[in-house]
Amino acid sequence: MSIQIVILAAGLGKRMCSDLPKVLHPVGGRPMLAHVIDTAKALGPSRIVVVVGHGGDAVRAAFAGEAIVFATQDPPQGTGHAVACAMPSLAMEGTVLILYGDVPLTAAASLEPLASAAAAGALAIQTQVLADPTGYGRVVRDNGRVQRIVEHKDATPAQRAIGEMYTGILAAPAASLARWVAALSNDNAQREYYLTDVIAMAAAEGVDIATAAPANEYEMQGINSKKQLAEVERAYQRLQADALLEAGVTLADPARVDVRGTLRAGRDVSIDVDTVFAGHVTLGDRVIIGSHCVITACAIGPDTIVHPFTHLEGATIGAHCELGPYAHVHPHTELADGVGIGNFVEVKRSRIGPGSKAKHLSYIGDSTIGAKVNVGAGTITCNYDGANKHRTVIEDDVHIGSDTQLVAPVTVGKGATIGAGTTVWKDVEPGMLVVNTKKQMSLAGWSRPVKGGKAKLK
Ligand code: UD1
Ligand code: CA
Repeated sequence: MSIQIVILAAGLGKRMCSDLPKVLHPVGGRPMLAHVIDTAKALGPSRIVVVVGHGGDAVRAAFAGEAIVFATQDPPQGTGHAVACAMPSLAMEGTVLILYGDVPLTAAASLEPLASAAAAGALAIQTQVLADPTGYGRVVRDNGRVQRIVEHKDATPAQRAIGEMYTGILAAPAASLARWVAALSNDNAQREYYLTDVIAMAAAEGVDIATAAPANEYEMQGINSKKQLAEVERAYQRLQADALLEAGVTLADPARVDVRGTLRAGRDVSIDVDTVFAGHVTLGDRVIIGSHCVITACAIGPDTIVHPFTHLEGATIGAHCELGPYAHVHPHTELADGVGIGNFVEVKRSRIGPGSKAKHLSYIGDSTIGAKVNVGAGTITCNYDGANKHRTVIEDDVHIGSDTQLVAPVTVGKGATIGAGTTVWKDVEPGMLVVNTKKQMSLAGWSRPVKGGKAKLK
């Protein structure tokens, strides 16, 4: 059985009030159309055709390299016209499934019965009984048999009282669909070519019309406005949270975690409120994530604790580390096992060896730090000379006193000690103690200045 899938994405999306084409607005951190394409791929189609119009170039660019065929509908003249624009890209054998680019939570499992019915020669439509189907096309039946779909705008009061609505998804044999679509007219309230008119054509030919409902109501939720975008986002996030809970992750509040990408978590992982995960994140067993963190594209090893208000991006983090609160780790950073990065410490493009710690108020950039190094509070790697970035190398067992500046390029040898307040300009040999040569003076008889007066030294 060969199935081809057409995704309609040429609508203007005016109600989004945005310069970005509607189908590129993100749901869970990815364009809504990407979700529909994933669902389509899950059905193993021989071809996916995306119909684009307004903003078509941006949509094509966003999916360049994907195994997708694009068809253009310009200007858009209705869903039936959109399918007609896809027809030249389709083979006239097997079945065709129509999906909407702005209905991102459509699930493959709910589409399978439609695909099978169409493979058996039926016209299959996805319908759902809603308490309030206002605005949707209604399914008109006679003695239980589907006769046609009437658009809300064209419906009589009696038809508007019908609860069964059409979700917009249908499957049909390719050759029949091509014939029906070619025969559509735009004689209706919106002067559009309605795809839904093919249902009456099929009924008139005595073709079997099958219906199937989606497994969940959110699957049919379309996005026409920012309000609906936010609603679909919440539905999507709830699904992500439920999947995490099912996998055994502890979530302090499933309504207050956002996964804008993929999150893989080991056993006994615990996540406090208001954390955002983006890109691909993996958390090892027993990882604890405090509240209000932003974690993007990171791999975090087992037993690591991330305290609140920590921002991690593009980092590989070992086991038994302790990060934050208020730590900021930038991309291209590798932290070995047992590393501690504390309050207001920023780490960028650096490798830090096992057991090393920088617990307070530091900047570590373009650095390679060995094992068991202690970086004192207020230490700065001066990696930027105004034009170029340079590396700082700190070997194993180095102790760096507070308020040290390391002017890169510079190497501090194994076991060296840097006294507090030192500016390190030159490489330090292993085992050396480096101190600031400025002498501390203690002066007696000093009195602090008073208002309107001067300080005095006897
Ligand atoms: C359509 C159905 C309606 C159904 C509803 C479900 C028709 C005539 N009506 O109505 O029965 O209840 O969906 O949400 O089909 N599109 C194009 N080109 C166009 C017009 C639309 O590609 O010329 C695309 C849109 O981008 C969107 C989809 O088709 O992805 C649906 O279009 P929309 O205008 O939202 O259809 P409705 O009028 O809501
Ligand atoms: Ca609409």
